[in-house]
Amino acid sequence: MKLNEKLLSVLFLAFTLVLAACGKDEVAGGSDSDGIQEITIKFSHVVAENTPKGQGAIAMKEYIERESDGKITVEIYPNSSLFGDQDEYQNLVANNVQFIAPDLSKFVGNNPQFNVPSLPFAFDNDEAAIAFWDGEKGQEILSSLEADGVIGLKMWPNGGKHLTNDERQIDSPDDFDGLKFRTQGGQVLEALYGLLGAGSESIPFGELYTALDQGVVEGQENTFSNIESKKFDEVQKYMTVLNHTRVDYAIFTNTKFWDSLNEETKAIVEAGVEEGTKVAREEAKALNDKAFETIKERGFTEITELTPEQIQAFRDVLQPVYDEFEDEIGTDVYEAVRAANE
Ligand code: LMR
Repeated sequence: MKLNEKLLSVLFLAFTLVLAACGKDEVAGGSDSDGIQEITIKFSHVVAENTPKGQGAIAMKEYIERESDGKITVEIYPNSSLFGDQDEYQNLVANNVQFIAPDLSKFVGNNPQFNVPSLPFAFDNDEAAIAFWDGEKGQEILSSLEADGVIGLKMWPNGGKHLTNDERQIDSPDDFDGLKFRTQGGQVLEALYGLLGAGSESIPFGELYTALDQGVVEGQENTFSNIESKKFDEVQKYMTVLNHTRVDYAIFTNTKFWDSLNEETKAIVEAGVEEGTKVAREEAKALNDKAFETIKERGFTEITELTPEQIQAFRDVLQPVYDEFEDEIGTDVYEAVRAANE
C-alpha cells in the first residue's frame, strides 16, 4: 500500500469510529434507546410490610430488580414513610413517586364510583371484588384519573372490614348511639354511619393509632391485617367481625414516568406489576386469616362473631344507601357488582 493510500484508510477508519461514537451518544439514556434503562423507581404506601399490599410491593420489587439485572432499582416506602394519605396522590401526579396503591375509597373526591368498596355487603369474597375491578366497569373507573396523568394498572385486594371500638360490644345496629368512627373517607361510609346513628370522621391511616389512643374517635373499621399490623387492637377494647365493606386497592402510576420507559424497560416493569398482583391476590386471604388468629392470641380486644340473623339486621339497616347513591354511582355499576358475585 502506498503512503497516501495508507493515510486514506486510517482517516476512513477514524471517521467511521467517530460516527459510531456519535450514534451511541445520541441514543444513550433516551426512552427510544435500546436496552434496559438504569432507573430508580419509588413505590410509596401507607401500610405495614406483612399485609397484602406490603407483600405485593415486595414481590414487584424483587421481580423487577432480578429481571433487569439490577439496572432498575425499586425503593419501597411503607408505613407512610415517604407520603401519606394526604399527599401521595399529588406526589404521584408530580412524578415525585412512580407507584402508589391506595385504598380505592380514597378517590371518591375524583369520581364517586370509587365508593364501590364502601357499598355494604357488595362482594361475597375477594374473587368477586377482583372480578368486578378486572371487568369492563371496574376498568372504566380505574381509567377515570387519566385527565390527571394517572394510570390505574391492576386491582390488588386486601379484604373485608370489621368494626373496632373502645366503648362497648357491638352486636346490633342499635349499639352505635353516641359513637364516632374513623373512616377512610367518602360519602357512602359517612351515610352508613349516619344510618347506624353514629358519627364519622375521615382521618389519614398514618394518624389513626394516635387518634384511637387519644379518643379523637371511639372506633374504626378495617381489615384484620391492618388492625393486627398497626396494633389497633391495643387501643380498642371491642371488635365485631362484620365484613360489611372492603379495603381494595389499585396500583397507580403516572404518564410522565410511564411514557419515559422504552419498550424493553416497560415490559419488565409491567411484568413486575403482574407479579405483585399475583402475590397480593393469592396471599390476601391467608394474611388476613393469620392476622385474625394473632389478634385472638394477643387477647387485647373482646371479639364478637355474629350469627347470620344478626348480620341480616345490619344488611337491612344499611340497604337504603344503595338507593341513595344509585344516581351518583350508576345502575350499570350496581349491575356489574351483582354480576361479579355470580
Ligand atoms: C385505611 O386507611 O384504613 C386503609 O385504607 C389503609 C390501607 O391502605 O390499607
